[in-house]
Amino acid sequence: MSTAWGVDEMPDQSGRTVVVTGANSGLGFEATKLFARNGADVVMACRNRERAQTARNDIRAVVNKPSLSVIELDLADLSSVRSFVETFKENHDELHILCNNAGLMAIPRQETVDGFEMQFGVNHLGHFALTGLLLDRLRESSGETRVVTQSSGLHENGAMDFDDLHGKREYDKWDAYGQSKLANLLFAYELDRRLDDAGADVTSVGCHPGYADTDLQRRGPEMMGSRLRLFLVQVANKLVAQSAQQGALPMLYAATASDIAGGEYIGPGGLMDMRGPPAKQASSELSTDEELAARLWEESTEATDVSFGLAN
Ligand SMILES: NC(=O)c1ccc[n+]([C@@H]2O[C@H](COP(=O)([O-])OP(=O)(O)OC[C@H]3O[C@@H](n4cnc5c(N)ncnc54)[C@H](OP(=O)(O)O)[C@@H]3O)[C@@H](O)[C@H]2O)c1
Repeated sequence: MSTAWGVDEMPDQSGRTVVVTGANSGLGFEATKLFARNGADVVMACRNRERAQTARNDIRAVVNKPSLSVIELDLADLSSVRSFVETFKENHDELHILCNNAGLMAIPRQETVDGFEMQFGVNHLGHFALTGLLLDRLRESSGETRVVTQSSGLHENGAMDFDDLHGKREYDKWDAYGQSKLANLLFAYELDRRLDDAGADVTSVGCHPGYADTDLQRRGPEMMGSRLRLFLVQVANKLVAQSAQQGALPMLYAATASDIAGGEYIGPGGLMDMRGPPAKQASSELSTDEELAARLWEESTEATDVSFGLAN
């Protein structure tokens, strides 16, 4: 059921430290702006310092004295994830909200620095490593803290192909996206179960934005050099998608509302779950498969060499 939750319902975030990945564009940018407007100290975790500074200046132009800093984070490089965490911890004693938001969709096959297929590597494995390395800060910080992981309605088309996780034998850009977005939810729910078992005051929640007008849809056609596809996605974005700000609301609701419980899934509750105000929703049956989640956890731990210190 849809809520009437909108930007005006967002609680005051003064005294709270927030990390947003992909904060320079689309949903991450809109979320950063609203966190900052509501008093949070926001760390913009972005792979390109120049784009991040431009985004920070854009927010400064519309929000009065926002508390914003930029720390470089390339989720396609585990050494960058580690150095992000090091810099963050040197400068921040607390972390209250981690928004695992950055992502890529339906791009031609590429590999991360560590040899992972790019969509699985950035969308899932990079965020898995980031969360594991920040978990001590989340656990030590005052009050209830949250990890919010951005998935997609397209997780419903996803399947985990553990025999070929990185698409080395066969690669389909949409299957790879679906797998990475299913992995986001398997991870979000498994993390919540493990935190619960450990008695930690950290909540893990999944969300999706519906269909929002951002740069996401453009990247694939741009990388393929397809002008026709680029034109078509731009038209579709203008005609069908909701605004990026509206698309950021499920993540903000999941991150800040008081009626959120661990393991929930938030998305727009309007037309075909693609637009409208945030609502609690059911994700696919596969995304709640605990055996699949445990297997993914094991594979992700091995791939990243990051241990959460949480038993299953
Ligand atoms: N928009 C939608 O309709 C929609 C629907 C379902 C799910 N989502 C999800 O929403 C999330 C945000 O996407 P968006 O729509 O806001 O798209 P966007 O405007 O393209 O933003 C994506 C962000 O991710 C960052 N990013 C990409 N690769 C990265 C890397 N290796 N390291 C660090 N950051 C990286 C981008 O940085 P650069 O600017 O430097 O490239 C950008 O800041 C994604 O997880 C996406 O799957 C979006």
